[in-house]
Amino acid sequence: MKQILLIALMALASVEAQAQLPSKGPDIHLGVTSCGGSTCHGATQPVRGSQVLQNEYLIWQRQDKHAKAYAVLLEPRSQRIAKNLGLPNAHEAKVCLDCHADNVAENLRGRQFQISDGVGCEGCHGGGQRWLGAHVSGVTPTAELQKLGMYATEDPVARAELCLSCHLGDETRFVTHRIMGAGHPRLAFELDTFTEIQPAHYQIDDDYRKRKTVASGVQTWAVGQAMAVSRTMAGLADAGRRMAGAFPELSFYDCHACHHPMSNLRWQARDGTGVGPGMIRFNDANLLMLRLLARRLAPEEGQALTTQLQSLHAAMSEGRGDISAAARELKAVSDRLVQRFARHRFVADDMRALMTALVADGRGGQFNDYGGAEQATMALASLAQALRRIGGATEAQYNELKAAIEQCYAATAKDEAYDPAVFARALEGVERAAPRS
Ligand code: HEC
Ligand code: HEC
Ligand code: HEC
Ligand code: HEC
Repeated sequence: MKQILLIALMALASVEAQAQLPSKGPDIHLGVTSCGGSTCHGATQPVRGSQVLQNEYLIWQRQDKHAKAYAVLLEPRSQRIAKNLGLPNAHEAKVCLDCHADNVAENLRGRQFQISDGVGCEGCHGGGQRWLGAHVSGVTPTAELQKLGMYATEDPVARAELCLSCHLGDETRFVTHRIMGAGHPRLAFELDTFTEIQPAHYQIDDDYRKRKTVASGVQTWAVGQAMAVSRTMAGLADAGRRMAGAFPELSFYDCHACHHPMSNLRWQARDGTGVGPGMIRFNDANLLMLRLLARRLAPEEGQALTTQLQSLHAAMSEGRGDISAAARELKAVSDRLVQRFARHRFVADDMRALMTALVADGRGGQFNDYGGAEQATMALASLAQALRRIGGATEAQYNELKAAIEQCYAATAKDEAYDPAVFARALEGVERAAPRS
């Protein structure tokens, strides 16, 4: 009986381990060298007839910024950040290494592990201790490997958790305004766009589709937005993370509410925030996207989101109401929406309708703040690409749309020079080019 219980507990532990982030799992990280052998993932060119490219190591090393993430910490700009924070240096500081390397505990580093490899294979695919043996045969099904601790990078929910843990932060790693004040760049992230711009070391072909489920780009975008909101709300609900001493943690607010020249008078009421002039605003860019998605895909939640967003703004800007309570409520909604979006089968009509709604929100002035415009632009690109892939736009329609979206990118290229009127004109172009349902 005791033994059965033990086995049951072990099974439970392994299911949990499977869902754990690579940086938080129990497995030893063997090091990039153990993946990069010439007959494994270290080929100089794609290997014909192989299920995977096999030159993943070279792509990562030569083109992927994750391979340089540690090296960046040795540069003068990182040294300056470290000095401003009173740290001896950046490349040994836990606060930096947690996002710029695969900074697992000393006892979880294999013999070939090198911290200087930056964000290496196992930083995303999970420590190889238990799965490497079964994996080298090349025939063990993905599901089996995932039970042994390989991370489900193909699953949009798991991927969102993984990428956001560094690109937005979580309870253990976070770019505070203090770190930004010391010189760290502003973080901007959208899951589908960043998936696209990460130099692909994999190919989604027929054989890949046989082994893995492939999420559409819009779904990746949608899940990423809901997860980003959930993450942010978890931070806001926690007074320890929400405050930086006596002051609120400013990185939750719209950077440009404070950081723009006083000669550039551009304040306009933004419907939905309820916040007057001269106040700092919470950065609601992801929430604007989530609300848009919810209105289409989960209308009852969409209705509530508008009110909840307003309550959060009132609490965070004017001290009316309880921030933790508002954040907890929004976290619950976004967690439900993560699951809804992960199950939804996106069709061409969804994409067209979302695009139309996005343009309408823009007309209504919802993207007057830079953060919203930046997210709206990446959303449009994701929607256009997905529409093309599903056959919902002809090549000519897609090209016209793409050219219009380029104007949105141009209007948001420099955050400090952002002009809502220029962005609004770019959106008109998108409206003209968008295929109708
Ligand atoms: C929560 C995770 C996180 C933490 C903590 C963090 N960073 Fe970063 N850092 C990032 C991400 C993500 C980027 C890339 C942003 C982008 O390009 O979208 C980045 C970018 C940078 C860049 C610019 C790199 C480039 O290629 O332009 C420097 C420099 C930098 N970080 C230094 C540091 C230093 C020094 C520390 C410690 C004080 C630190 N970071 C802590 C996540 C983090
Ligand atoms: C920043 C995260 C990240 C890093 C670092 C990373 N990968 Fe990946 N990898 C992904 C994602 C995302 C995918 C696509 C989703 C999937 O197929 O699981 C992927 C896919 C793959 C695939 C394709 C799997 C298949 O079924 O066709 C292989 C092989 C692979 N990675 C190997 C590597 C190797 C080797 C390294 C290190 C040299 C590495 N990856 C580094 C995120 C990463
Ligand atoms: C362990 C932390 C970590 C994880 C996990 C992570 N990243 Fe990164 N990522 C970084 C850091 C740090 C940088 C900046 C590196 C630099 O500039 O040198 C970066 C840079 C990038 C860049 C380059 C951005 C630019 O400005 O050119 C892309 C794209 C990217 N990451 C996508 C992803 C995706 C997609 C995932 C999830 C599959 C992911 N990242 C997971 C830490 C991480
Ligand atoms: C409530 C207003 C406020 C908000 C919101 C805010 N900041 Fe700041 N920021 C400040 C103040 C005040 C300073 C300190 C200025 C000084 O020392 O001269 C500062 C300093 C900085 C600096 C250093 C400037 C320097 O002179 O070296 C950077 C970079 C920065 N903030 C980035 C950001 C980013 C990125 C965001 C959004 C995530 C943000 N800030 C949000 C008020 C704000």
